This record gives sequence, C-alpha cells and structure tokens, in this order.
Amino acid sequence: MIPWHVAAARLGEGDLHPGGAEATRRLLAWMAGLPEGDVLEIGPGLGLSALRVQAAGRRVEAIEVHPQMARLCRERTGLSVVHAPAEALVTWPQARYAAVLAESVLYGTDLPVALAGIARVLRPGEGLLLSDATWCEGTSPEVARQANLDSRRRFGIPMASEQPWTWADWRQMLGAAGLRLVHEERLGPGSPGGPTRERGPATAWLRDPAAGLAMLRLRWRQRWAPRGGGQVESWVGLAVRG
Ligand SMILES: C[S@@+](CC[C@H](N)C(=O)[O-])C[C@H]1O[C@@H](n2cnc3c(N)ncnc32)[C@H](O)[C@@H]1O
Repeated sequence: MIPWHVAAARLGEGDLHPGGAEATRRLLAWMAGLPEGDVLEIGPGLGLSALRVQAAGRRVEAIEVHPQMARLCRERTGLSVVHAPAEALVTWPQARYAAVLAESVLYGTDLPVALAGIARVLRPGEGLLLSDATWCEGTSPEVARQANLDSRRRFGIPMASEQPWTWADWRQMLGAAGLRLVHEERLGPGSPGGPTRERGPATAWLRDPAAGLAMLRLRWRQRWAPRGGGQVESWVGLAVRG
C-alpha cells in the first residue's frame, strides 16, 4: 500500500499537519522572534513549510526518513534533504541550528530520543516549533494500540504515538530534554485543517496515476473511518532550549 502521506505528496498535496497552512503561519510568527540562524525541518513532506521558512530569509535544511519523500522534496525545493531518521540527530554536531521545525512528524518517532537529538542540535535560547496530534487524556494503552493498528491498516501510518501519550506527557518529555514550552495552543479535537493542493486533481492524476488511484482508495476508507475522532487532539508549540 502507498501510505497516505506519500500518495498525497506525489499528487502535490502538502501541509499534512494539524491546522494546515494556518498553523504553519503561527509557527513562523513565533520563529520570527527567535535569533537569526539556520533552520532544520524534520519530515518536510512536499517542502511547503521549508520554502516558507526560506522566503522568510532563513537558510533551511531537512532530514527525512522516507527515501522517496527525501528525493521528492530535494527535487522540488532544491534544498539539502538528508535521508535519515530524526532519532539520528543524537549523533549530529551540537548547537548547529537556530530553530527546528517538526509538523506532524514527532508523533511517529521514538520521542525521548528525537527530543534529545533536537535539543543537541539547537543553540541555547533557540527553539523547536511543532504541530502534532496527541492522545486525549484518559486514552488507555489498549485503545491507542488498536486505533494505531486500524489506522496503519487503512492509511499506512499510525494515528498518534505508539504509547498513549497526552499533551501533558509531551510537555513533561520536552522538559526532560531541556526544552521549555514558551507558547502552546490546542488547535482542537482530532486533526483539524486540510491539505494545500499545488495543482488540480485532474493534472495531479495525469502526472501520477498510481498515486491518484492510491488516494482514491484511501479516501474511500476514510469515508467510513474519519481519522482522529474523539481519541486525539492537536497542539502547536514553541519550546526553547535552556
Ligand atoms: C504526515 S507527514 C507530514 C509532512 C510535512 N511535515 C507536512 O506537514 O506536510 C510526516 C513526514 O515525516 C516523515 N517522518 C516520519 N517519521 C520520521 C522520522 N523518524 N524522522 C524523519 N522523518 C520522519 C515522513 O516520511 C513524512 O515525510
């Protein structure tokens, strides 16, 4: 199965994160308050946010775990996109970036390791900007496991973290990694917002019929099981390195 985010990117659909382009605008406004310097985006997808960061006058690099997504983003944006998981940042040179941007990606990582790596590559006083879905308070490990299994079967990706981590857990893990939340906003239940489409459906389909067919199947499944429901909620935040 072509996973949902890969089919979407191949069809020119980006901003596949909670709150869509509007949430990115909020993150970029927070980023403007951080000191000058380069930005690392984790899991850039199509690269829409990376290009916005670049347009705001900052140099951007990216790290992406999926080889096809890394290639697609590199070809589309001309940016340096390293093919590696976020967790590999624990071995990268220290204090290299002014900001790290992660939209709908950290939920699928080994979060404590990824956060330790992010804290390592940030300079003190600089920050992680994130937009992600977390489990609602009171979600049991069994419910989270079952919902992720179902989401993987239907869409090729989990719904939220493997453990039933809530925003309170994320806050605690950010703190443990030395990242202090200075802005946090709950976007709402589920994963609000829709994708940004670069081109009309007919053009997208003609360019990549296999991805078009995959998306049709995914949308059909989604009709019967909308992602998110009452189990997850979405947050944006800026956490600054101490
Ligand atoms: C749901 S998509 C979001 C893409 C983009 N950030 C956006 O908002 O449109 C998640 C992206 O993160 C990448 N990803 C997932 N796990 C990752 C990891 N451990 N390290 C780096 N990238 C990862 C996926 O391959 C995908 O490109």
